[in-house]
Amino acid sequence: MTAIRPQPGIMDIALYTSGASSIAGKSHVLKLSSNENPAGFSDAAKEAFLRAAHDLHRYPGTDHARLRGAIGEVQGLDPERIICGVGSDEVLQFVTQSYAGVGDEVIYTEHGFSLYPLLALAVGAVPVKVAEKQRRVDVDAILAACTERTRIVFLTNPGNPTGTMIGEAEIARLSDALPRQVLLVLDSAYCEFADGYDGGASLVTTRPNMIMTRTFSKIHGLGGLRIGWGYAAREIIDVLNRVRQPFNLSEVQLSVAEAAMRDTAWVEKCRADNAKWRAWLSHALTELGVAVDESSANFILARFASEAEAAGCDAHLRDNGIIVRRVNGYGFPEGLRITVGDEAACRQVVHAVAQFKGLR
Ligand SMILES: Cc1ncc(COP(=O)(O)O)c(C=O)c1O
Repeated sequence: MTAIRPQPGIMDIALYTSGASSIAGKSHVLKLSSNENPAGFSDAAKEAFLRAAHDLHRYPGTDHARLRGAIGEVQGLDPERIICGVGSDEVLQFVTQSYAGVGDEVIYTEHGFSLYPLLALAVGAVPVKVAEKQRRVDVDAILAACTERTRIVFLTNPGNPTGTMIGEAEIARLSDALPRQVLLVLDSAYCEFADGYDGGASLVTTRPNMIMTRTFSKIHGLGGLRIGWGYAAREIIDVLNRVRQPFNLSEVQLSVAEAAMRDTAWVEKCRADNAKWRAWLSHALTELGVAVDESSANFILARFASEAEAAGCDAHLRDNGIIVRRVNGYGFPEGLRITVGDEAACRQVVHAVAQFKGLR
């Protein structure tokens, strides 16, 4: 018997299961399970990818200055307050590793992103789940759950898988009322899909106890390349940079992300298309008797009458080559999270749900 043991908490981590991407026996599927961009990525990003392929023998830069500069310019933020990571996942990991340890408490909300408790366990901290109210983050419940052991509060806004949002005033109220030792992490992976929302950037600019995380995986359509970023006070970015590996991002990732960030016209088009088809899909499903909250993201949470009905509809969609996401693990056994696809995809989903309901 060996005495080699993993650190506390690590064996409590359940292995992550990602959205399915195939259906046995089907060569063509419509994948609407991972909130990917139906338009793919911009031509500018593709050109940058091909250009960067000539320099694969070179180590990348370590300070990400060009990408941080581009993000700063486009978003109107100080590049010195930005950190880039392998997906926003990695930035979230830097935060947990830097600010929580054995026995500390990390708060996340009932329907929040499933990664947060895993990150807490990985550093030996205790994940504390706080109830939401009507599928919306409840600021008062979060404040009531804080103790002197709380170090981090994770908040997804817009939420995944709910798609719902809380307003900036609520976030400001939370930030102002948190105990002094608590860092508020505003996970804004879907903020570009919300109307007139800067992801909380302006709040973070004036608050030393917040970090905003963002991703290139959603509106920029680059989930396969793994790039994200965070924005916080310089003191926090300085801490996170100490745990970041110097070569965490390749020149390919950096160059493609920079081109994608600068292609604001493409982003704008994706935002408009998503808003149009999200509204259409929500309305059409509601007409079919499926409950849908107003979504501010690039997916909707369809709630059925029961777990059995959700499972039945999921099976019917699969029979028709459509993959959506069951969300039992997020506390919605009766739900299916459906990524907003392009027009054809949305029409296909609605047609299949109508068939399932016996209405077509
Ligand atoms: C709420 C939320 N945060 C973060 C992420 C991670 O994104 P990334 O691909 O940047 O690691 C996701 C991915 O689905 C997400 O849904």
